[in-house]
Amino acid sequence: MLLDGKKISAEIQAEIHKKVAALGRKPGLSVILVGDNPASKTYVKAKSKACAHVGIFSRTIELPATIAQSDLLKQIEMLNRDPEVNGILVQLPLPQHIDEKIIMASIDPKKDVDGFHPVNVGKMLLGEEGGFLPCTPLGIKVLLERSRIETSGKHVVILGRSNIVGKPLAAILMQKKAGCNATVTVAHSQSERLADLTRSADILVAAIGKPHFITKDLVKRHATVIDVGINRLPDGKLVGDVDFKAVSEVADHITPVPGGIGPMTIAMLLQNTLSAFLKMALFLILLASCQKKNPCTHFNGEAMSMPYQIIVGKSLSNKEQRAVKEVIEQTFAQVHDTFDNWNPDSEISKINHAEKETLIPLSPPLQNLLDLCSEMVTVSGGRFDPTIEPLKANANALDLADAIGWNHLSIHNGILKKDNRSTALDLGGIAKGMCIDWIVERLQSQGIEDLVVEWAGDIRALGHHPDQGDWLVPVNPALTVGKQPMAPIPLRNCAMATSRNIGLIDPLTLSATEKTPFSIVGACVIAPTCALADALATAAILFPTRKEAESWAQEVVEKYPDVRFWILSYR
Ligand code: GUN
Repeated sequence: MLLDGKKISAEIQAEIHKKVAALGRKPGLSVILVGDNPASKTYVKAKSKACAHVGIFSRTIELPATIAQSDLLKQIEMLNRDPEVNGILVQLPLPQHIDEKIIMASIDPKKDVDGFHPVNVGKMLLGEEGGFLPCTPLGIKVLLERSRIETSGKHVVILGRSNIVGKPLAAILMQKKAGCNATVTVAHSQSERLADLTRSADILVAAIGKPHFITKDLVKRHATVIDVGINRLPDGKLVGDVDFKAVSEVADHITPVPGGIGPMTIAMLLQNTLSAFLKMALFLILLASCQKKNPCTHFNGEAMSMPYQIIVGKSLSNKEQRAVKEVIEQTFAQVHDTFDNWNPDSEISKINHAEKETLIPLSPPLQNLLDLCSEMVTVSGGRFDPTIEPLKANANALDLADAIGWNHLSIHNGILKKDNRSTALDLGGIAKGMCIDWIVERLQSQGIEDLVVEWAGDIRALGHHPDQGDWLVPVNPALTVGKQPMAPIPLRNCAMATSRNIGLIDPLTLSATEKTPFSIVGACVIAPTCALADALATAAILFPTRKEAESWAQEVVEKYPDVRFWILSYR
């Protein structure tokens, strides 16, 4: 089977495009191209074209091959300081007289969307969240994940030990994490018995830059073959490191060249740039508020491709910090195992793929969440309805309409049953909030009284800021009508969630919400828990007009007196 990097990259780019459109401001990427290496020029052009496609502002700075290293460093320093620049990429290779290591180390690690800065390389090796992973290895990992190719326990043999592909890919795939857990061998030009190594690979990655080096006899039957090579033959044809035609006869999965890893690399660059923007934009204000007298303790990272930030309102000892990190990691792992539709083994994926009338026992956390979903379906008159999942994958499939509706599920005594095989759940409108609630409540039970947890724009605050009373939190920058972001909101012992109208499918009409002068731009909801705020914000944006949404919001506030709504419309 062909591993179609071009198709998966296009899917990821569509997801990024939606997220960027919801921001109200464009993330910015600056690419530095030194000299006129034709291959580098082609790659840079492709990167800037992809940026334009998803709504990221990109600028290519072309510098002569003769530029002095000191001048290049000055240029990078300017970009490091420019608040409009979220990501910086210096295209490699650089001319001989320039030291690549010095250049990579001069890029602000928070803008290093290539993941080549020593701080990011260190985080990658340690398996820490919060840094950037290099785009090509990350693209390989995501391609394998999205193609449902298991890496856990498998033998991955990587040919090539470059800093861009071989070394980082080995570091990533050996981590004790979902989508990794592989047994990794890195082979190179000095390796003996190379054929024995390649023939023992369940997943073979070729990144050596030698056209058609991997022949059929070097590949185990049923293996997965990933071709990172891009070689131009004398006749101008582009080929990989793998003899595609012959190897296809023995491999179960194989990437083509072009159309395999190249497009995935570009998609990951866009993803890293968006993530750099979100990390920077959302918490600038909160960070500033924490640089006062009493130090807070910060925990930053990324879970399920979305950045999180957790601030504890006091200085914590190393032991206390380790305990907090453990709660964070365990909770995100639980979310991955329970609610994550991208994880084929998650509880929700098993429900989604189950036959009708199968009895499925629910874990207590999922049962809790589904109970709240039931309540939200009722409260919202069916506007909040996670069974919209099948239409998300195929918005035109009207034959799937029969599968949509909460009434296709029955839950009794912790056992779930569907009456239609195609009924499936997307908990995206509530699970993020639930995860934030879990982190807050688990840290509270460890004795932490002052805390704010933010993940992808949703926030819950406990207690108060050590200097300033209520936590002053910025509203998700996605929620603006013009260019101005909303003023920060003081929060204490409550949560805030935002949703923006990005053409979600309304379960009542089975069509995407339309943009009219009167339609809703977005909604911000404050509630005692983040799951409640998340679900109500999702429901609010599905009303056709602000008037209708506000009249519903009034009824909700009567039922839940601690809830507050801000509903924004164009008019
Ligand atoms: N040259 C080849 N691949 C890459 C890459 O991923 N990033 C940069 N900066 N240069 C490259």
